[in-house]
Amino acid sequence: MKFFIDTANIEKIRYFAEMGIIDGVTTNPSLIAKEGKDIKKTIEEISLIVDGPISAEVVSEDADGMVKEALELSQIHENIVIKIPMTKEGIKATHQLALKGIKVNMTLVFSPAQALLAAKAGARYVSPFVGRLDDISSSGLDMVLQIREIFDKYDFDCQIIVASIRHPLHVVDAARMGADIATIPPAVLEKLFDHPLTDIGLERFKKDWETVFG
Ligand code: G3P
Repeated sequence: MKFFIDTANIEKIRYFAEMGIIDGVTTNPSLIAKEGKDIKKTIEEISLIVDGPISAEVVSEDADGMVKEALELSQIHENIVIKIPMTKEGIKATHQLALKGIKVNMTLVFSPAQALLAAKAGARYVSPFVGRLDDISSSGLDMVLQIREIFDKYDFDCQIIVASIRHPLHVVDAARMGADIATIPPAVLEKLFDHPLTDIGLERFKKDWETVFG
């Protein structure tokens, strides 16, 4: 399973990339705005740190505008993947971009039907948002399981990026379901390391060692 980091924060990307656990990066307009820097400059900086797919999202609402933005963003680096929202215009743009050989990550996916449409239009990635579905009392992970079942029955060239991850169990369950990728916010990545028994064990090794060897 691949780990992408879901942030546009350069320091956080560098911090986790140095551990060798980051296979790619996803951003969205909210994450770019949070850092307050120009999208092109931010994506360029990220591409110097991570050698893997980097998702940059369009903000246009019509297919022509999306394609225009996508063509500009894809000039930044060969690893750029264009994030397109799951709308009819988005599907149209995805189809046009797929014909041009530009990779699309279809975002704001909240149902298996939407994932199926995205794959049919030629998206190379779909991003089901699990946390936001959980927020409205619907199981985000059930949606992922259904998308996995559907994709396994056909030969779509489309990977599942589990997005809107809120806690470590989302990551573990996504892995158990065979999701291709989890895109994880830095705060959740941090939590994946923690286990109280690791801390207690380490403390005990240290104490025993110091008792005998000083
Ligand atoms: O990048 C898209 C997605 O991961 C957003 O997550 O927490 O804003 O629902 P969230």
